[in-house]
Amino acid sequence: MTNILCIGAGYVGGSTMPIVASHCPQHRFVVVDINEARIAAWQSDKLPIYEPGLDEVVRKTRDKNLFFSTDVDKHIAEADIIFVSVNTPTKTFGQGAGKAADLQYWEKTARQILENSTSSKIVVEKSTLPVRTAEAMERILNSNGKSLHFDVLSNPEFLAEGTAVRDMENPDRVLIGGRETESGQKAVEALVELYANWIPRERIITSNLWSSELSKLVANAFLAQRISSINAISALCEKTEADVSEVAHAIGLDNRIGKYFLRASVGFGGSCFKKDILHLVYLCEQYGLPEVATYWEQVVTMNEYQEMRFTSNMVASMFNTVAGKRIALFGTAFKANTNDTRESPALEVCRTLLEEHAEVVMTDPHAIENARYDLGELAQRVIFEPDPYTAAKGAHAIAILTEWSQYTQLDYEKIYVSMVKPAFLFDGRNLLDHRKLYEVGFNVYPIGKPALTHLHSQ
Ligand code: NAD
Ligand code: UGA
Repeated sequence: MTNILCIGAGYVGGSTMPIVASHCPQHRFVVVDINEARIAAWQSDKLPIYEPGLDEVVRKTRDKNLFFSTDVDKHIAEADIIFVSVNTPTKTFGQGAGKAADLQYWEKTARQILENSTSSKIVVEKSTLPVRTAEAMERILNSNGKSLHFDVLSNPEFLAEGTAVRDMENPDRVLIGGRETESGQKAVEALVELYANWIPRERIITSNLWSSELSKLVANAFLAQRISSINAISALCEKTEADVSEVAHAIGLDNRIGKYFLRASVGFGGSCFKKDILHLVYLCEQYGLPEVATYWEQVVTMNEYQEMRFTSNMVASMFNTVAGKRIALFGTAFKANTNDTRESPALEVCRTLLEEHAEVVMTDPHAIENARYDLGELAQRVIFEPDPYTAAKGAHAIAILTEWSQYTQLDYEKIYVSMVKPAFLFDGRNLLDHRKLYEVGFNVYPIGKPALTHLHSQ
């Protein structure tokens, strides 16, 4: 039996470890966090994150070979392998503020591991980190007077929220980076063995440490770049009566381009895309590559432009003022099937509409609490309403901001009747049947497609 510890019980630690534990009943897993409320929630019937299929895996493994705890020091001492999945946000202060990674939680963890270790260990970077962070980790860990040896591996996580269970069960690949020393390679092999409990060997790839660290940042940058590319084209479509879904379909059939991640939207959100691209930009600047930095920064700039374009279009379409108008925002989560609202475009749209003095009502099937939290003081000016019918009642406009399948099932005739006329619908996800909504009476504004409005004929 191997004692496996994961430090950080957030979205990554909390959703990956139960799945690993379910495939490795021969090993013992502990997930620790300094956040007591979070650990209590992992131990309860209401998990702190909404992730389809996760409840069942947690129920199957918890208190058998999976345990949650706040006693970080004790479990460090007992562990053979330690995954570190603490948060690595963007720095908000000092050098590199607004771009560089804030590694304070990371470094604290390294020191805590050192302080509490009485045996040699494998330490695995699961958090997303700037390339060459493992070097700093190694220096801290191996500068000990205890004659202990620590092998540091990079094993970035590629799961997406909302599909975490599926992604972990059946990943496209698992990447493990390690030192090319004898002990480094032995550590890599130990981790390969762990994953080989359920993942075919050919999908477990190994590389040097720096390639592994960098591959994670680059994977997110490429994914986000595709969204910004199609969103840039959506703006051109709106000027030319081309339809962005038709363009995406036509180009996506080319195998070299591929069909995924070409859904035009109000913009990408989530805790990682923006953060990881900005970390990449900062690294490029630090290594004296300003042209490369500017190239990638444009992906974030285009995303901000898309969010801004969406709300400007709302205001312009509603006769250049939304002051005092009730506007129902459908969806607060940054994507469907998660309760995560970090960097959600819905919150940005909400902030801009509040600046315009609109009366904002937000609804979401799972993410209202997090939206309230993330909006901070502004939340006091927002009405939160779990029922979409009530949210839309008396509204001048609806904006679809999360692609929840529930929103495709609503009775839009009933909703239309309850709204102020002319009634507007802005579909920031191209989720609904726009022709049908137009026939019901709505003035419909999709992304990257011609608007369907009754206003010209009035
Ligand atoms: P999160 O904020 O949800 O969770 C991080 C947890 O670490 C928090 O609960 C925090 O309390 C805990 N923590 C911080 N310092 C600690 C310490 N010293 N000891 C114990 N616990 C500590 O973050 P997340 O979304 O799980 O992301 C974690 C990392 O994984 C980030 O680097 C992120 O970029 C990366 N990542 C995230 C996703 C995702 O889908 N969210 C996917 C792939 C990679
Ligand atoms: C993303 C990556 O997909 C994961 O591989 C990675 O592990 C993770 O970031 C991370 O490092 O945190 P995630 O942010 O959870 O996963 O979700 P995505 O499915 O990538 O969606 C991100 C955002 O892009 C969402 O707001 C989504 O609505 C938007 N999106 C996605 C589009 O607007 N269009 C698309 O075609 C696809």
